[in-house]
Amino acid sequence: MNILILNGSPRQGGNTEILAKTFAETAEQNGHSVQIINAYDIQVAPCLACTHCLNIEKGICIQKDSMEMIRPLFDAAEVIVFASPIYFFTISAQLKCVIDRFYAANKVGIGFKKSALLLDSHSPNVFDSAIAMFHGINRYLKWESLGIVTLDGMTAKGSASNDPRLEEIRKIAASL
Ligand SMILES: Cc1cc2nc3c(=O)[nH]c(=O)nc-3n(C[C@H](O)[C@H](O)[C@H](O)COP(=O)(O)O)c2cc1C
Repeated sequence: MNILILNGSPRQGGNTEILAKTFAETAEQNGHSVQIINAYDIQVAPCLACTHCLNIEKGICIQKDSMEMIRPLFDAAEVIVFASPIYFFTISAQLKCVIDRFYAANKVGIGFKKSALLLDSHSPNVFDSAIAMFHGINRYLKWESLGIVTLDGMTAKGSASNDPRLEEIRKIAASL
């Protein structure tokens, strides 16, 4: 399967990147093709709600930024994995901008069939908002959820390295 992982953390080598790479390693070991898009490599502006993508050029966003590079990748992928640090009780703004820009593609159909959510935070009990969003998107776009993994206690860069909860991510990736 083609798998696209969106790492919403702007911190290169951070905890979220460890979660994303953990998923990718297991999926690749099982023969899947995986692409990770890191927020620190891209510039994606918020949706302008101009409706150009609905009315003028169906499915095409008027904004010319990194979404032009990401779009063919997600058009080709069957599985989408959202990985994000918790920023003020939800996903990062960087990841949310990419998700909002799905609006243009939604007009012509988004090919993902399955999804997963990987979250990391400093504190416990801060994941509800991000998880609710994930369930809502799955329901709306009829994606099957492969699962959700949350790691609290993550603060310093690299805290996630060797965390036993990474095994939960490997299990989800291995289920594909
Ligand atoms: C702007 C910002 C906001 C944050 N907000 C929260 C929060 O609301 N709750 C929490 O537990 N951790 C919060 N954190 C901590 C991060 O979620 C946590 O350290 C995460 O592992 C960072 O991921 P990274 O290593 O990929 O950057 C915040 C960090 C930043 C930089």
